[in-house]
Amino acid sequence: MIRNLTLSLFVLITVLSYGQVAQPQIIPQPQEVKIGTGSFILDAKTAIVYKDKDIQQEVNYLLKSLRDKTSYVLASAYKHKESGRISLKINKKIKDSEYRIDATNKNIICEAGSPEGIFYAIQTLLQSIDSKDGIFFIPSMKINDSPRFAWRGLMLDDSRHFFGKEVVKQILDVMAYLKMNRFHMHLTDEPAWRIEIKKYPKLTEVGSTGTWDDKNAPKAFYTQEDIKEIVAYAAERHIMVIPEIDMPGHATAASRAYPEISGGGTGRWEGFTFHPAKETTYQFIDDVLSEIAELFPAPYIHIGGDEVHYGNQVWFTDPVIQSFIKENDLKDEVGMEHYFIRRVADIVSSKGKKIIGWDEMIASGVTPDKAVVMWWRHDKPAQLTLALDKGFDVIMTPRIPCYFDFVQDNIQKIGRRWGDGKYNTLETVYNFPGSIENLIKNNQKQIMGMQASTWTERIADTKRLYYMIFPRLAAISEDSWTNNEEKNYPIFVEKIRKFYQFLDMKGINYFNIFDINSTPEPWGPNKADVIAEG
Ligand code: ACM
Repeated sequence: MIRNLTLSLFVLITVLSYGQVAQPQIIPQPQEVKIGTGSFILDAKTAIVYKDKDIQQEVNYLLKSLRDKTSYVLASAYKHKESGRISLKINKKIKDSEYRIDATNKNIICEAGSPEGIFYAIQTLLQSIDSKDGIFFIPSMKINDSPRFAWRGLMLDDSRHFFGKEVVKQILDVMAYLKMNRFHMHLTDEPAWRIEIKKYPKLTEVGSTGTWDDKNAPKAFYTQEDIKEIVAYAAERHIMVIPEIDMPGHATAASRAYPEISGGGTGRWEGFTFHPAKETTYQFIDDVLSEIAELFPAPYIHIGGDEVHYGNQVWFTDPVIQSFIKENDLKDEVGMEHYFIRRVADIVSSKGKKIIGWDEMIASGVTPDKAVVMWWRHDKPAQLTLALDKGFDVIMTPRIPCYFDFVQDNIQKIGRRWGDGKYNTLETVYNFPGSIENLIKNNQKQIMGMQASTWTERIADTKRLYYMIFPRLAAISEDSWTNNEEKNYPIFVEKIRKFYQFLDMKGINYFNIFDINSTPEPWGPNKADVIAEG
């Protein structure tokens, strides 16, 4: 308590001169910060010094970011004798994502074991820059920092509404600022298929028209060139891009393009599934995933696997499926679904990758050497513990509090709320995973990390997308990076002011927690006001 008060005071004290500084406002909070006296003055003569060619890209990123922030064109040199240096060094004794900063009034030394660690040191430095009377400075400080979790992610659903590569790049820029490192693209679902597959052109010619609101909306999808651009842009920011091709449910757009591999569905769920008992379906999936595996260097392909029972009614009467179930001793339609998941896990495994599946996948019989579980059903915590007991690695994205299509404040009219009225305030997001720590404490090593998931049924344009993601993404960043003992909500809230300055500079919209009426709730299509649902 006393410690928290002291820290709060640090944050609230403003800079009186650049010799007297407050705790720098860094999100995510570093694990260890010690403030010294005095500051390093950053000016046009400051040199960026480095030896290791492996970090050339990071040095360029730093130079560009400093130019954007201070308008100085800084010198970059391999060796430089003057003071006023920022040195970036690889030190192999430091482990992968960890970094250290030693900043004095003479120079700044950033050390890490890898370019990734150097990149995180750079993000911390950039966030530590303050200015007064036109002079830029960084406080004297020592920082020792490394992430709690390896997976610090965000999912974007581009099927319900499509946002495109320029929006994705802006999001990746903010993720980099927040030291987040996994971008999960939900590329296929009911309204549309959003990625070009050369072998099956109708997937985008036919399957990419429409959105959640308007089935006649014009074609919109990522070309393979767009994907390469996104993957490269993300890689420069040490972000892995993970594609999701949802199956055997949520396959409506694919069914529309290639009805011959559809397993049908009825009414609201028409065409919802792939046909699970035809060899041609598995050939199609193998071909599609070959192109996907080539395009995305990530060692994972997310294959969905959720909510199949919503739309598999036709499976109960389809004679091909029924005889397949009998011949292969699969017992019933659920057995059929599990067979499908195992087949696809083998296909993905043959390409040297693992599947990620939503938590329904746990029951399929797929083994942990081939699969990672994404826990999403917050009302089924037993799914999380079952996955851990079975030996799976797990990524956590429970609806409450990690789904960003849920409202973040009671004043919001549009967006999801859970049946019991729960929604995802900044504070509930921030309190994760502390709120479920008892479920994971005995299996920490299997918890890869967590992500925010942004479904877009009710997010039709970019302004609203950003309004729903920010500032909550900053909370996920700190949840996934910072140990519980170093987290502090009142301090975090103060730091959001600086985060908003960054978003303002980039022209990115957000929900303003300091003045909740100042940003009218943006909305694209006309929809009924309050949408409450499970
Ligand atoms: C999901 O929200 N259907 C994974």
